Amino acid sequence: MPKLFAAPSKLAIPVWFVTKETWPALRDKLPKRQSAFAVASAFAPKAGTHCLLPDTDGSLAGVLFGLAGEEAAWRDALIAGRLVPVLPEGTYRFANEPPGGLPALELATLGWLLSTYRFTRYKPNSSKQPRLVAPDSLDAARLEQMAEAQFLARDLVNTPTNDMGPDALEAAALALAKQFKAKATVIRGDKLLDQNFPLIHAVGRAGAQAPRLVDFVWGPAKGPKVTLVGKGVCFDTGGLDIKPSSAMLLMKKDMAGAATAMALARMIMAAELPVRLRVLLPIVENSIAGNAFRPGDIYPSRKGHTVEIGNTDAEGRLILADALALGDAESPDLMFVFATLTGAARVALGPDLPPFFTMDDGLAQEIAQHGTAVADPVWRLPLWEPYDSLIEGKISTINNVSNGPFAGSITAALFLRRFIEKARAWAHFDIYGWNPSTKPGKPEGGDIQTARLLFDLIEARCGKAT
Ligand code: BES
Ligand code: MN
Ligand code: ZN
Repeated sequence: MPKLFAAPSKLAIPVWFVTKETWPALRDKLPKRQSAFAVASAFAPKAGTHCLLPDTDGSLAGVLFGLAGEEAAWRDALIAGRLVPVLPEGTYRFANEPPGGLPALELATLGWLLSTYRFTRYKPNSSKQPRLVAPDSLDAARLEQMAEAQFLARDLVNTPTNDMGPDALEAAALALAKQFKAKATVIRGDKLLDQNFPLIHAVGRAGAQAPRLVDFVWGPAKGPKVTLVGKGVCFDTGGLDIKPSSAMLLMKKDMAGAATAMALARMIMAAELPVRLRVLLPIVENSIAGNAFRPGDIYPSRKGHTVEIGNTDAEGRLILADALALGDAESPDLMFVFATLTGAARVALGPDLPPFFTMDDGLAQEIAQHGTAVADPVWRLPLWEPYDSLIEGKISTINNVSNGPFAGSITAALFLRRFIEKARAWAHFDIYGWNPSTKPGKPEGGDIQTARLLFDLIEARCGKAT
């Protein structure tokens, strides 16, 4: 595995975190010529500012990095990632703790690592980046694992569908399972019909590569059952209800739910959390061909409900429905669902704040808390009971869309809920899977949300490995 941190070195250039409050004391502590230079170059300790401090010979003696005060800092805890594109090549170390102490230092470090990601598969980038020595007080290997997991998912989302179709996504999932000695099975093509996954088959059957369900299991059989289900639509044309070109442009990222499940699984397996992990990935392309599923078609589902297709572009919930019914059947202790499910979620909360849905108020509170604690924010939306009638079928049990323009993210979540019965606790995350522009820790392009927060939550709930 590539080392993301630089080897410890006495020559590492110190980076000082500075706030308005801590600046006067630090200014007095620095050599006079350095503090004078900072003042002369009008350095102001505000969130995201920096100042390169010269040594007597003109070399780089240190870096000042401005932060907001403690309270505001939590809103942008990955902000140290901003240093990666602006610092000259070299080896750096954090010289002090940001306000917020060790947890804030950990997020600053992670922000740096996450900002070093580059997608180079089709355009190599040989420009050198600054490197960070892992702070002594942190578990460097663990931070590297967290970043590696997220990098894996970013690579999967960024890779265009001609190289990341169902075959390639399945191969990536199986490679991950193999790396951690998980037990994997795949059900492909018409076998989906034999084994009662009619909706996964219906959505994916027009794709040039067969639809499939990847299922892998890892960890102690007696551990709490944690099941992750991720939407793996390798490309979403919309189907016969075809998307306009502007809406189709980014649809290689419609497998970001599967990538999220894989990243979280990797974090859990690398940390050897004592849980019985199961990962279910329905993988398809929502394509157009003579055998494509149609508006008005009615299909059975694994759970038994009959589903009328109101819109072939609401395909994610269909493939998830069969996967959820399978996962639910063994009454998992926790079941998490990840999907780039609706445009409506973006309209409501924008790209950086995924909504989540759960019936369990305690779990909702935990999710929100861990999200804040690790700077992986989410916001709860309701499974609003009265809207459930909007997806009632007229000549089937259920329709895959409501026929109005309202509450699209909620009605999608209510659709999923119909396929969950036995899970002791579950939550669904309507993620975006993409950074529209570069922010600290979040380079423009494919990304995943909620994996770090749920790793933190599962670790807190289920205990650390010894
Ligand atoms: N993959 C899309 C949702 C999506 C679009 C996520 C853009 C992120 C960005 C999903 O399959 C879809 O097309 N949903 C439709 C549902 C509608 C037909 C009820 C939508 O949101 O428009
Ligand atoms: Mn769609
Ligand atoms: Zn989709």
